[in-house]
Amino acid sequence: MKFLRGPSDYSQEPPRHPSLIINSQEPFNAEPSRSALISSSYVTPVDLFYKRNHGPVPIVDDIERYRVSICGLVEKSMELSIADMKKLPKHIVTATLQCAGNRRTAMSKVKTVKGVGWDVCAIGNAIWGGAKLADVLELVGIPNLASITPLGGKHVEFISVDKCKEENGGPYKASIPLIQATTSDSEVILAYEMNGEPLNRDHGYPLRVIVPGVIGARSVKWLDSINIIAEECQGFFMQKDYKMFPPKINWENIDWSTRRPQMDFPVQSVICSLEDVTKVKPGKITVHGYAVSGGGRGIERVDVSFDGGKTWVEASRYQKTEIPYVADEKSSDKWAWVLFKAEDEISENTEIVAKAVDIAANVQPENVEFIWNLRGILNASWHRIHIHTEHPDN
Ligand code: MTE
Repeated sequence: MKFLRGPSDYSQEPPRHPSLIINSQEPFNAEPSRSALISSSYVTPVDLFYKRNHGPVPIVDDIERYRVSICGLVEKSMELSIADMKKLPKHIVTATLQCAGNRRTAMSKVKTVKGVGWDVCAIGNAIWGGAKLADVLELVGIPNLASITPLGGKHVEFISVDKCKEENGGPYKASIPLIQATTSDSEVILAYEMNGEPLNRDHGYPLRVIVPGVIGARSVKWLDSINIIAEECQGFFMQKDYKMFPPKINWENIDWSTRRPQMDFPVQSVICSLEDVTKVKPGKITVHGYAVSGGGRGIERVDVSFDGGKTWVEASRYQKTEIPYVADEKSSDKWAWVLFKAEDEISENTEIVAKAVDIAANVQPENVEFIWNLRGILNASWHRIHIHTEHPDN
């Protein structure tokens, strides 16, 4: 008895902010509007943070008696309470979580894809607080920098309790390589706080994993156990989903085993201050948005075009006000998004386009057609806004 359980129906879901745009009610999948996401600024408030669930939200019956177990290929298994977690040094990491399905709706306009439709706001940036996974692993005898345990464990599997139909009613699970948790600069945490408050139910209360720089699918919520295993997790969401396939692969010729589970996400940028089709008066226009890259790669540049991609201006970038953003600087949060702003004059119908470049000089692909994939993941193509100018005499 772990005092955390996954209900079989949706009768006990938590309350949610009425302004969220609901993409699926059961399981609950919702994102904020573009304007809410961008006006909420660098740190996304919890109630506006996108919610991506695959089953009913679990229930904690008794937080005092809740335990997460650490087991598998370790010499001594252990169970830890939230109080035990809090005895370990608290690590705080500002990290952007992005669903691999962010911008899926736009990809499905090229050709149908399978999955919940998302606009551009299946993303948020939060300040996560918890224990470092490395510190917890040390308690079961796994030292820093270990890539294999004496019993042959090479992966850390995170298992939840939610009942997911993709797992035939079993729990959501995922894994990361052990070395990703034990490496000296690892900031993988077991979070019990989000933006300084205890996690709320939608975001994984009482305990979730945060794997910064990696698609949100690996940041398992409502943790029940941490299992040290020899091979990567064999669960549905690692083996039959969240893999990137080339455009020629369809549901008839797919062989899931040919691809690895997606981990890092690619460089991404989105204009949030305008809808995809926007009417404006001719004159000066200012655009705001976010840019982010996976693997802790900072954003080197955001280019914005006000003439459909013929010419480009460099946007200004910022994280915290008053502190200039420099990719790779100590003052910048390496796992977090960068907000950007650019302005120019427009006089006629045009397309405003954003594309970002990360510190490895990775650039967003120009067209979504070339990265189309049947599951509709990782749409990181140039973000385009169609502007119709309204002339006063019209
Ligand atoms: N963990 C569990 N247990 N169940 C889930 O459905 N969804 C995953 C991940 N962790 C999921 C989960 C996906 S796909 C994403 S994008 C993130 O949680 C979303 O986290 P959020 O709802 O806190 O934004």
